[in-house]
Amino acid sequence: MPNKIDFNKNFPDITESNKLCERSKELIPAFTQTLAKGPTQWIKGIAPKYLIKGKGSHVWDVDGNEYIDYNMGIGPIVLGYCYDKVDEAIRKQLEDGITFSLMHPLEVELAEKIRSVVPNAESVRFSKTGCDATTATVRVSRAFTKREKVLCCGYHGWHDWYISVTDRGAGIPEAVKDLTHTFNYNDIESLIQSIDSDTACVILEPFVFEEEKNNFLKEVQNVCQKNGTLLIFDEMWTGFRIAVGGAQEYFDIVPDLACYSKAIANGMPISVVTGREDIMKLFDKEVFFFTTFGGEALSLAAAMATIDVIKEKNVPEFLSKQGQKLKEGYNQIVNDLDMDFTKCSGYNCRTIISFDAKACNPLYMKSLVQQEMIKRGILWGGFHNMCFSHSDTDVEYTLKAYRDVLPILKKAVNVGDVKGYLKGEPVEPVFRKTGNFNVKPKTVS
Ligand SMILES: Cc1ncc(COP(=O)(O)O)c(C=O)c1O
Repeated sequence: MPNKIDFNKNFPDITESNKLCERSKELIPAFTQTLAKGPTQWIKGIAPKYLIKGKGSHVWDVDGNEYIDYNMGIGPIVLGYCYDKVDEAIRKQLEDGITFSLMHPLEVELAEKIRSVVPNAESVRFSKTGCDATTATVRVSRAFTKREKVLCCGYHGWHDWYISVTDRGAGIPEAVKDLTHTFNYNDIESLIQSIDSDTACVILEPFVFEEEKNNFLKEVQNVCQKNGTLLIFDEMWTGFRIAVGGAQEYFDIVPDLACYSKAIANGMPISVVTGREDIMKLFDKEVFFFTTFGGEALSLAAAMATIDVIKEKNVPEFLSKQGQKLKEGYNQIVNDLDMDFTKCSGYNCRTIISFDAKACNPLYMKSLVQQEMIKRGILWGGFHNMCFSHSDTDVEYTLKAYRDVLPILKKAVNVGDVKGYLKGEPVEPVFRKTGNFNVKPKTVS
């Protein structure tokens, strides 16, 4: 019998998951198309590897086991899996066609809708992936300012201009690498030290998990404006989640350009660039940003429906409310158990659970919690990515599971053998460099 969302006696049977994984060995390099979904992020031998169905906040793996999901497709599932209103919009559009030979009216309608909710959206362009959007904003910034350098803070995707600055930059010419540097979040000095008269743009995630301090974002905008550098918000995670209009609405800061993707269409692939009309008009001709599936109509229809629901139901408020219960509930439990080496932090709509190396290797601790949460029917990757379908029952059950699981971690730490409690190989580090790498070398005067 497959496992349910329950205090199951056994770990889930993952035979079919393992068979599929075996078939993809050598056939699909890295096994996965999305790093965060691949086997490196999950405890081997215990965690399921392939999901085949989702409804609301619940998912089913290929062996039939059911889980509450807190990963939500790594961001896109903002309403819940198979959310009726969005699926109806997709089905209705499907009857008329997917991709056409001329433009589709939904391109205009969705652009108008986005302009009505996103503060900086004087002009709007669509594409397919988050990377499409970030790369387009960087290129148009270079064209507009006639400068070449980029300063970034966060993760911005797999394209050359960004990934070249990480340790995963194989295959990218050195000349490209020399044009991008990073600065650190909440550290305005690190930006001031790096910006110069050739800096075309500053691109950053308005926040990841760390709370914004000392008006950092406003300060970033001031520094950019003084320097004639364009400010880009990468709102992949913040957009349509922290507020309908994203972080620019939440912090009341209007960046020159912004990029959205994950949460716009509840799982359909679409990305959006918004920004100042005088900059965006370079996409008319000078800056080439066109792609075959850019106006694909199922995603446009899904985005229309998703944004309507987000607005009508005040989804950001709901995500914050449910996320807060989990964050505060987790921290209460670890406080009661006197486990000062783990905590839950972040803005409520998306929080992270961290483990302090002073107690033990954090990856071992994360793996143990993951292993035990999976046993209890929770697909747990160390985050609470909230969606509109995470019910009170889900939240209460999750906290009940934490109350059961965290004492196991405490015991394992106390006996000094967390690794010994693991039934499989631990998870690997998350690839997500967000600070202190490829910082621009200081000029020696
Ligand atoms: C902040 C941010 N920017 C850009 C991207 C790249 O988006 P995509 O993977 O859709 O190309 C991601 C993806 O996770 C992201 O989190």
